[in-house]
Amino acid sequence: MNIRGGTLITRDGPVEGDITVADGRISAVEPRKPLSDGDVDATGLWVLPGGVDPHTHFGMPLSGGISSLGWRNSSTAALLGGTTTVVDFANPAVGEPLGAAVQRWRDMADGTILCDYGLHVTVTDTSPERLAEIPGLVSVGLPTFKGFLAYKGRLMLSAAHMKTLMAAVREAGGLLLVHAEDGEMNAVAEKVLLDLGRIGPSYHPDAHPAESEEKAVAEVLALAAETGCPLEIVHISLARSAELLNTARAAGHASLVGEVCLHHLMADDSLYQAGHEAALGAICSPPLRPRENGDGLWDMLADGRLDMLATDHCEFPLAVKARAAGGGFPAVPNGCGGVGERLVLSYTQGVATGRMTPARWIDTLATRPAELMGLGDRKGALTPGFDADIVLFDPEPSYRWEPLGPSDRAGSIWAGLPARGVVKDVWLRGTRVVQGGRLVSNTPGGCFLPRLLNSRKD
Ligand code: URP
Ligand code: ZN
Ligand code: ZN
Repeated sequence: MNIRGGTLITRDGPVEGDITVADGRISAVEPRKPLSDGDVDATGLWVLPGGVDPHTHFGMPLSGGISSLGWRNSSTAALLGGTTTVVDFANPAVGEPLGAAVQRWRDMADGTILCDYGLHVTVTDTSPERLAEIPGLVSVGLPTFKGFLAYKGRLMLSAAHMKTLMAAVREAGGLLLVHAEDGEMNAVAEKVLLDLGRIGPSYHPDAHPAESEEKAVAEVLALAAETGCPLEIVHISLARSAELLNTARAAGHASLVGEVCLHHLMADDSLYQAGHEAALGAICSPPLRPRENGDGLWDMLADGRLDMLATDHCEFPLAVKARAAGGGFPAVPNGCGGVGERLVLSYTQGVATGRMTPARWIDTLATRPAELMGLGDRKGALTPGFDADIVLFDPEPSYRWEPLGPSDRAGSIWAGLPARGVVKDVWLRGTRVVQGGRLVSNTPGGCFLPRLLNSRKD
């Protein structure tokens, strides 16, 4: 198959060229030739590598159901939105071995998911028995782990336990992802609010103050410098946090990665004051911040001080959040969606406004996340030998963009947002999975992807 006539968007800039696909891979990238019978006509369109979202929660079991309407719905939204690969999280239950949690997650995803996926492994127990599993997991393609400084009494690690985890991950050649909010500070703020009877969803951000994120970011950067553990700070919500990360990066103590999520760039804390339902939809941690903060994050993503744009896709139907809200805002499951909207909305507010070049846009959405997640030899770029994960994107459509994914989007922070640009066609490993903006088949063709970090390749 040849895709001819389009503009290839690469991290080095736009190129007028054609792509040939054979056996599920890109076999050639060549200067433009005239169209022949059977070629895919990409005239006037942008040809992108399939998006790589390094942070999703597609099917996390909860007492009230499953996050994000499950693997099938979430991965359908991903493909329709031009994302062909995600890295999700396996979360062990109390006392459960890490490897058993990975198996449980694979049993849920394999045969159900429509896009390719890898798994991070959450670690909330730093006993020697659990930490001893880490080298084995790294060696089978699970080199990234997540630890929490937030969620006291549930997921939170003390600084001492975080340090132990960092030493173990470093020793095994892995990368540690950290949720950097200070769980103690949040718990104190939450208690003050609840004691005053302030239990509605609009109070959620007051229990997650900016100082809490700044304190945790500073703390975990110091631990990374002490242990030498490669560190990614996930869902950075404050420009100030990204500044701290870059100061530490300049000091060169450890390998540091900064991830920003769509909702912290593009939505703001006015939603908490926009009524009960809007506030519920916006409950996520860290919370949405003031508008001008999002502007700072845009600048840092555009110039490389932040590395990549993820979603932390963890959407719940409004009814699920509303039911839980009866117990006060702390009982509401945390998370927003975004996997279906990431390309189109970041194009609309990032590229179409001139904040970011198309090259940097695709770097943040595909090329850089693939490299940082240990998929840089097969995903995230239009390179011969790579998987033929390809998106045809219309930057100037003459028709209206439709909301993506499952129809029940009540409570989505993205509902009704104006968008420019349309994902028209998507191929996953050479198979067309989206055509004209519609899913071609419901067949779950996604594969589990073992990953190998760059630092382990030599
Ligand atoms: O609100 C969020 N972020 N929910 C998902 C879990 C996490 O902490 O990433
Ligand atoms: Zn988190
Ligand atoms: Zn998350």
